[in-house]
Amino acid sequence: MERKFIPLSVPNFPGNEVKYVSDAVASTWVSTAGPLIPKFEKAMAEYMGTDMVVATNSGTAALHLSLVDAGVGPGDEVICAALTFIAAVNPVRFCGGEPVFVDCDKYFCMDPDSVQYFIDNYCEMVDGKLINKTTGAHVKGMIPVHVFGNMANMERLMDIAEKYNLFVLEDATESVGTFVTEGRYKGRHLGTIGHYGALSFNGNKVMTTGGGGMAICHNEASRHNMAVLSEEAQDMAKKEDNLLFIHTDVGYNYRMNNIAAALGLAQLEHLEDFVATKNRNFAIYKELLDGKNGLKMIDYTPGIRSSMWFHQLYLDDCKISRNEMIEGLAQRKIQSRPIWLLNPDQAPYKNSLCMPLPNARDYVGKIVNIPCSSNLTEEEVRIVCAEILDLTK
Ligand SMILES: Cc1ncc(COP(=O)(O)O)c(C=O)c1O
Repeated sequence: MERKFIPLSVPNFPGNEVKYVSDAVASTWVSTAGPLIPKFEKAMAEYMGTDMVVATNSGTAALHLSLVDAGVGPGDEVICAALTFIAAVNPVRFCGGEPVFVDCDKYFCMDPDSVQYFIDNYCEMVDGKLINKTTGAHVKGMIPVHVFGNMANMERLMDIAEKYNLFVLEDATESVGTFVTEGRYKGRHLGTIGHYGALSFNGNKVMTTGGGGMAICHNEASRHNMAVLSEEAQDMAKKEDNLLFIHTDVGYNYRMNNIAAALGLAQLEHLEDFVATKNRNFAIYKELLDGKNGLKMIDYTPGIRSSMWFHQLYLDDCKISRNEMIEGLAQRKIQSRPIWLLNPDQAPYKNSLCMPLPNARDYVGKIVNIPCSSNLTEEEVRIVCAEILDLTK
């Protein structure tokens, strides 16, 4: 019998997904006013041990709303990750701001040393503001991304932020389900540590709402501002605004819809199972591949319970190249993918200021993401490992 195709990362609907979505459709509440949206907000907030959340129609929208609330405007600079999906950077430009790119650490996340290097070599404090001496711009904040379910070094980044008066927007889009188990932030879910956090529930994420996201903050004024901005700057909580179309600002159409929230509520019931499967599968990959044929499975950051969203195979001293690996696996009906091109090498950011990127550049050429769906069976993991070992022997 022919073996099934093994995809990289697909949604997994093991429980009430169809029921809750059907019920939502049957109720005719399909758009942004439905009752399941606040219900999903409450459930996610409880799961994460926080209370200031705004459900959005994408993680990108959550990032954008956070930057608007943080006051990023034309000419401002924001410290961004060179190695990550470009959606973590674009919202800076939506605000008219400019990214400054820094390197990653060995867990793919923003390297505090690289942030400090930028500050020491390019910046000075003027009247309590961090100013880039070479551009004259106010550096207002940073967006550390918790890449692949890892954790950026939040203790050091928060210290740097406090010292230089910067906001921290945690891009936790890839780390839903990850929380801290050691140190200063023990018990905190990623996205709830910085001044702002953003989650994504896109189709390939740990849990999905089809498309969706969530902005997290720590004061009611910000939560209210982001909620209002997400609905065309109309305060839906005020009855007269609802009826008279009073808009207090230039807002956005960023609110989550009721069908997405229905899906999210069903997915949340299984989030812990998804994480458990990913943890089990990573352990098998590690046991079967790490140290064999010039291959390395990159560990997740210590001191966290990681969601292990994506698994990273590093071609350390391997006889085939990254592209040969991806093509070889594709021929064997296994989907894999390279890591992103670096953001400062992408067309919109070729002229942006960028710190040296030795770690990120090394990873770009040598990382292959291998199958990691939350419904991937143990048997499938063993098949993937056998094929990888065969390709590299
Ligand atoms: C690091 C990062 N930031 C932002 C996003 C944007 O999230 P969304 O696709 O929900 O807009 C994603 C994923 O898609 C991501 O991986």
